[in-house]
Amino acid sequence: MIQHNEMEISFLSIAENESFARVVIAAFAVQLSPTVSEIADIKTAVSEAVTNAIVHGYEGKTGMVRLRANIEDRMLTIEISDQGRGIANVKQAMEPFFTTHPEQERSGMGFAVMQTFMDDLHVASSPGQGTTIRMRKRIRSGSPQGMTGTYGMGGML
Ligand SMILES: Nc1ncnc2c1ncn2[C@@H]1O[C@H](COP(=O)(O)OP(=O)(O)O)[C@@H](O)[C@H]1O
Ligand SMILES: [Mg+2]
Repeated sequence: MIQHNEMEISFLSIAENESFARVVIAAFAVQLSPTVSEIADIKTAVSEAVTNAIVHGYEGKTGMVRLRANIEDRMLTIEISDQGRGIANVKQAMEPFFTTHPEQERSGMGFAVMQTFMDDLHVASSPGQGTTIRMRKRIRSGSPQGMTGTYGMGGML
């Protein structure tokens, strides 16, 4: 079982890259032999953070979104950063149902979802400079019948 690993990629802030980021994080996390449900949680959390970088951080303009991930024993740490608009009031932004874009039918539940699906969520942001989301999840299963064994990569992507 792998004990330490790191990855980093950057991609353009276009909607198509949400699914790209989901596949990338799943492919990286698979070495921890996560369960189907752990992988689903990680993909959903990454998707929310990447969507936020695209729609709120860059607000339709294009910029680069960076996805970094780190494995330390069974702990997966994920960072998603943009160099967009930033968040003036992080505490308020993280409240369930808070959204600055109600007209786009945003639910305001992105941060709540990240918090629920991951063990730990930290948001660092400066207005005008950008936002970095750091999330952690301890992968518990590590079973020999994890996703690699039972279904192969195809099953979990
Ligand atoms: N990367 C980001 N850059 C700038 N603002 C952000 C970013 N991520 C979140 N926000 C702000 O936090 C609010 C809450 O985010 P979220 O909980 O995902 O709800 P929603 O995306 O539905 O608005 C957003 O409406 C936005 O104002
Ligand atoms: Mg959101």
